[in-house]
Parts: sequence; structure tokens; C-alpha cells
Amino acid sequence: MLAIRILLFLSAVIFINSRRSAKSKRIIILVLGRIDQSPRMQYHALSFAKQGWKVDLVGYQDKKGPGLFQNHPNIQSYAIPTLPGSLTFRSRLSFLLVAPVKILHQLLSILFILFKIKQASYFLVQNPPSIPTFLLGHVLYLLRGTRFVIDWHNFGYTILALKLGKEHPFVKLLRIYERVLAKGAFLHITVSYSMQQVLLEWGIRPCHVCYDRPPAHFQPVQDATRKSNLHVIPEEFNPEKEKLLVTSTSWTPDENIYALWDALKMYNETRNAVPLLVLVTGKGPGKPDFVKHLQKNPLGKVRFCLPWFSSEDYPRAIACADFGVSLHQSSSGHDLPMKVVDLFGCGVPVVAWNFPAISELVHDHKNGFIANDSNELFKKIELLCSDEHVLQSVRQGAFEESKNRWDDEWNKKIPRLFTIDS
Ligand SMILES: *[C@@H]1O[C@H](CO)[C@@H](O)[C@H](O)[C@H]1NC(C)=O
Ligand SMILES: *[C@@H]1O[C@H](CO)[C@@H](O)[C@H](O)[C@H]1NC(C)=O
Repeated sequence: MLAIRILLFLSAVIFINSRRSAKSKRIIILVLGRIDQSPRMQYHALSFAKQGWKVDLVGYQDKKGPGLFQNHPNIQSYAIPTLPGSLTFRSRLSFLLVAPVKILHQLLSILFILFKIKQASYFLVQNPPSIPTFLLGHVLYLLRGTRFVIDWHNFGYTILALKLGKEHPFVKLLRIYERVLAKGAFLHITVSYSMQQVLLEWGIRPCHVCYDRPPAHFQPVQDATRKSNLHVIPEEFNPEKEKLLVTSTSWTPDENIYALWDALKMYNETRNAVPLLVLVTGKGPGKPDFVKHLQKNPLGKVRFCLPWFSSEDYPRAIACADFGVSLHQSSSGHDLPMKVVDLFGCGVPVVAWNFPAISELVHDHKNGFIANDSNELFKKIELLCSDEHVLQSVRQGAFEESKNRWDDEWNKKIPRLFTIDS
């Protein structure tokens, strides 16, 4: 309860505090994850930098550095130090014990970096996580007048609910924390209209949508290029005789790869089914179990290949696919899967698992299909493999989709929101 009171007090102070002015084109972007694995925040950074903003990008980095855009003269990156590897969450109990230590360590090391950085006009964080970033946003605003902006990728409490269950007190507490502390922010950006609607219902505004869109290195390829790209796939593939299905997964509980397997088992039993190569890309906790499952239950007509691609090879590999499958089941129902955006960037149509917001991105029969269960997934896969006319028609839809680009979306919606007072 004390925590809630402190939060309420803090947000009250912020409401009373009048909006301060923004004087310089400087923005701090905080990523509480690996920067190189946070494409949207990298794209934000690059877009601001292209518009002449000085960007201080704070986040976790591995030895290779912050990722794609480390050489832009307007972007300066800062690595957050990490805790020793032994402090990981092995069980629910250790999660509850270790989380506070981790958060405190994070909070102090980030504060240290933030106060080393020159004063900025805006402070952009992604949500989730909201702990401790929302607090930091308010602290930075109170102490330095930096306007606090939240880029909503999803809700933190719905993701925590996957781990702890919907009724867990921590989940309820996090929901209150997110709602209350978000209210004091200067501006909100969401990845979907459906998410914007939730924030508006919570009384959180102003709130604008900036869709995820593929950056320029995701492009459709011509047949000739496709052939030459096939070498990045570590498995023989004959485009004349087989179809290539691609799915990317982070192997987390909100993506049920076994639902795809069930669909492919039905496909395996279909007469005259075209042989299928299934590329499952991504790393994550559930992968070893799935590999064992595949070894025990081979599907004659369906071969699997589970590679990990570098960020240069990934767009080339997925551009080779005939179509993609998205198994993303949004924890909130309101976020949109980035991997579908990437596939559309390459002009590849997608069969997507259904959830409330997905229809903002995937349009049934136009740029792909939406499936409610494994049986429907199977039917769509079978349709796309057997009916060249249908495949070409949704490929055309996905090709149209590939013309929607991050820069256009961002330039249209974002710069006008980040005003500078003269
Ligand atoms: C896949 O189909 C083949 C026959 O085409 C069959 O022998 C095999 O058992 C099937 N695999 C599974 C897991 O059902
Ligand atoms: C999936 O379910 C939704 C409603 O839940 C329905 O409108 C839609 O037609 C279903 N999709 C298919 C392919 O049957």
C-alpha cells in the first residue's frame, strides 16, 4: 500500500507541476532490453537522428555493440551494466526474490547514466517493462524538466500474468502502477488503434498510433534474386517442387509452435500434398523440447529446419518464403507481431493466429489469412500449397503491403508531436 501512496503522491506532484518547455532537439531513448534485439526502438532512434535530433540511446548491449545503427553521427549509445549471470529466475520463488534486487540495481545504474547525459527535451521509453522506467520518467521530468514519452508495445501486466496468473496480486499491482504512472506522461504512442482505445478508456492521453512498419532492408525479391538468396537457408530446397513456409518464434508460452505442428501433421496426412520445408527461426527456451518432439514424430512430407539468422541474413531468408505463419497470441490482445510486419516488408503473405487486434494488420484473403485453431491453420496452409491462384493473389496483397514503410509512417505521425519551443 505504501508503494501505491508514493506513486499517487508522485503523480499528483507531476499534475501540479506545469509543463516545462523543450528547448533543444535532444532526446534520450531508454531500452530495458538488448538494443540490438529492440528493432522498433532502434528505428525510432534512427528516425530522430535523420531529422537532426541528437539521440542518446541507453540500453543493454552485448560485445558486438548496440546493433544496426551504431555508426550514425547523431546517435550516442550507452550500455547499462548487467548483473552477474547467477542471478537469474530459475523458479517462481527466485523470481519473486531476485526481481527487487535486479530492479534496484537497474534503477541505480540507469540513473547514473541518465545524469551523466546532457539535458534533453524528451525521454522516450518503451513499455513493457514499466518498472522502473515509468518512475525514471517522472524523476527525470521533476529534476530536469525532460518530457516523458511512453511508446506502448504492449501492457506489462498482461505479460506478467502469463507467468504468475491473472489473479496474482503482483499482476493487479502492476496494472495499477502502469495506469497511474502512465497518466503523468507528456505523450503516448501505441502500436495499434486497439491499444490506443484501451489507453483512452483508462483516461490516458494524448495518445497517437505509430504502426510498426518494415525498414528499408526488408524488401520483396524477384524470382532470380530469390534463387540466389536460397544459399542462406541451411537446407536443400527446390522451389520448383516444394513450398517454403517460414515462421519466427521467440519460443515463449504466448506462441504455440505445437499448434503449427498439429496443422502440419494434418497436412502430412493429406493426399498429393506438395512437400513443404518449414523454416522456424528464432532462439528461446522452448526450442530443445520441440527439436526432440520433431525427432520422435517425423512428418514425411514436411521437413523442418530451425536456423538462427544474423540480422543481415534474416530478411534474405524470409523473402524466399512462399508464405509465413504467425503464431503470436498477444498477451493483451492489442499488440501486433513485428514478424508479420517483417514478412509483409518482403512481400510475403501470412497466415496469422487470430486475436483481437490482428485484423488491423492481416486482412483475410487479401494479404493472408486468419486462423482460429490448428484445423483452420491446416486448411489455409493446404490451400496456399495447392492453389497457385490463391497464393499469387495474397502474394500480390502482401506486395502492396510492402510499400508501407517505417519512414513514411513515422514521418507522417511522429515529428509533429515532438515540438520544440523557440
Ligand atoms: C506422416 O505421413 C507419413 C506417410 O506419408 C506417415 O508414415 C507418418 O507416420 C506421418 N507422421 C505422423 C507424425 O503422423
Ligand atoms: C474465426 O473466428 C471469428 C470470430 O471469433 C470469425 O469471425 C471468423 O470467421 C473465424 N475464422 C474462420 C476462418 O472461420
